[in-house]
Amino acid sequence: MTAHGGNIYEVAMKLGVDSSDILDFSANLNPLGYPKLLDDIIENSKKDIINYPDPDYINLTNDIKNYFKSMGTVLSDSNILPGNGATELIFLLIETLKPKKIYLPVPCFSEYEEAAKKNNGKVERIYLNETDGFDIRPDMFKYDRDCANNVIMLCSPNNPTSKIIKLKNMKEILRKASESNIIVILDETFIELTIGNNKNSAISLINEFSNLIIIRAFTKIFSMPGIRLGYVIAVERIIKKLKSRQNTWSINCIASNSGKLLFENAFFEETRKWLENEKDRFFYLLNEIEGIKPYYPESNFILIKILTETTSGILKEKLINEKILIRDASNFDGLDNKYIRLAIKDKRSNDILIEKFKKIFA
Ligand SMILES: Cc1ncc(COP(=O)(O)O)c(C=O)c1O
Repeated sequence: MTAHGGNIYEVAMKLGVDSSDILDFSANLNPLGYPKLLDDIIENSKKDIINYPDPDYINLTNDIKNYFKSMGTVLSDSNILPGNGATELIFLLIETLKPKKIYLPVPCFSEYEEAAKKNNGKVERIYLNETDGFDIRPDMFKYDRDCANNVIMLCSPNNPTSKIIKLKNMKEILRKASESNIIVILDETFIELTIGNNKNSAISLINEFSNLIIIRAFTKIFSMPGIRLGYVIAVERIIKKLKSRQNTWSINCIASNSGKLLFENAFFEETRKWLENEKDRFFYLLNEIEGIKPYYPESNFILIKILTETTSGILKEKLINEKILIRDASNFDGLDNKYIRLAIKDKRSNDILIEKFKKIFA
């Protein structure tokens, strides 16, 4: 069984149906799908299939640089490294920085711990508290001098809690960490799927704190996990080290031609409208169902606690029989078999799930 959401193939095979027949609430992608422009990019990339991609991804890097410039953050090409999805970059960062210890607020995305394990890094888990709203605060971490060369690994909005790290807290964490030479890796893969979008990002702090490394991805906002594209923003010294370890041509021609998606303002606007309409509506409908407790989401997915006898596994199986896939969140460190995670989808799909839940928890 996969450790992640989104494995519609496994479910489709089990039910003997096509994967497109599965209503997938387990992968938290933009339900608008990908921007139309991606069709043109794919078409135009056909001519590039017979060539190796530009190993420096000059056009893509330039697009990323201009994207941040448009929101007031000046970067240079040497601050940016594209990669084969955020996941490649998470592993590359840990493999390159070789931290002795990784401070990890949990629950969080499981690949951080996988990357630590693979590189013999010791993980010190910091258990987030549901009564605190899973808040990540500066006082949760140790900043001893002997922590030098260690890493604090953060995610905002955090998967699976759907909570944004407040910028005030982020700044304080960075200040304290920098005094002890601790590096802070911040995964902002979902940031464009928050109300306020890049205003919630720590990107404005990147030129102030040389110990800040930000991971971003095209995956979630542009709903293109099958193409694989992410990038890291950091000081030149770190980018150079990462690049020297990264496999040459790690991303393909379609991904490397996709930078213009960052300027699809109408798509961002449509996404904002959908999120503003559906996020709170879906949350409040779920909140009315007795037997479950949804935690207020700050991104495009909702963490839910089951309050009845049933377990996340049983609920998942019941819904699979209805061709609906949810994320059993029991394998997130810090959670158990009472937790599930739901992507927020389009109104019609969300309403289908609400009706199913009403019946199951009646
Ligand atoms: C927090 C977080 N970061 C990164 C990723 C992976 O992104 P990518 O598909 O770009 O590797 C995920 C996927 O679920 C995620 O939840």
